[in-house]
Amino acid sequence: MLGFRLLSLAVICGASSNRPPFFEYVKVARWLVHSSDYAVSSTSCASERLGCAFKGQPFGDIMSVTDGNATLSTGIVYTYLPPEDAATQDILADPRMSLTFSEKAIGCKSTAEDPPCARLTIAGKLTQVPDGPESDLALSYLFSKHPQMKEWSKAHSFKPYWMAKENISSFFFIDFYGGAKEFTVEEYLAAQQLII
Ligand SMILES: *[C@@H]1O[C@H](CO)[C@@H](O)[C@H](O)[C@H]1NC(C)=O
Ligand SMILES: *[C@@H]1O[C@H](CO)[C@@H](O)[C@H](O)[C@H]1NC(C)=O
Repeated sequence: MLGFRLLSLAVICGASSNRPPFFEYVKVARWLVHSSDYAVSSTSCASERLGCAFKGQPFGDIMSVTDGNATLSTGIVYTYLPPEDAATQDILADPRMSLTFSEKAIGCKSTAEDPPCARLTIAGKLTQVPDGPESDLALSYLFSKHPQMKEWSKAHSFKPYWMAKENISSFFFIDFYGGAKEFTVEEYLAAQQLII
């Protein structure tokens, strides 16, 4: 009976074969981050401008992200930003922001707000990855997931950014009915990822 219900849920969600079951929610959160092409970034408007009615208004934008490569999931979100972008201007003024992921973007069959269609918000600070080995690693992760980015670096001075472990403050995660699940940064980073 339970097996049948889980199977039905998997069908409803259009879950891919490597999606952990909903009750292993920390793993689902890690799977969602690793599988996502992009996140919605929410920054605080550094000034009044297009898309910002007033300074301090939340500004939602799209960032292409990665947390590793084809064989590695770190759980740490990396992105690649040019200095002139609106969202970059915001985080240079105040790095506190959040990143939101929806399973709908990677193939949930139900509608995005339906709880079994997983969603995750990571709140923290997005900062530039330090130059040197950390930055080289970040670029290898970004280029492995988004080969287009190699071309971007020729036109603009894009830099890799991350939400470093010490700068993650909390998670808001839903993958089933009953409200947001709680887990710590340590639990999130420790959740084993099965990469198929
Ligand atoms: C992924 O990154 C790790 C750590 O840098 C590396 O050991 C591994 O070879 C990389 N995998 C691929 C497919 O590039
Ligand atoms: C964490 O954020 C602060 C800004 O508040 C920044 O100076 C620091 O470099 C970040 N940590 C890492 C490891 O990037």
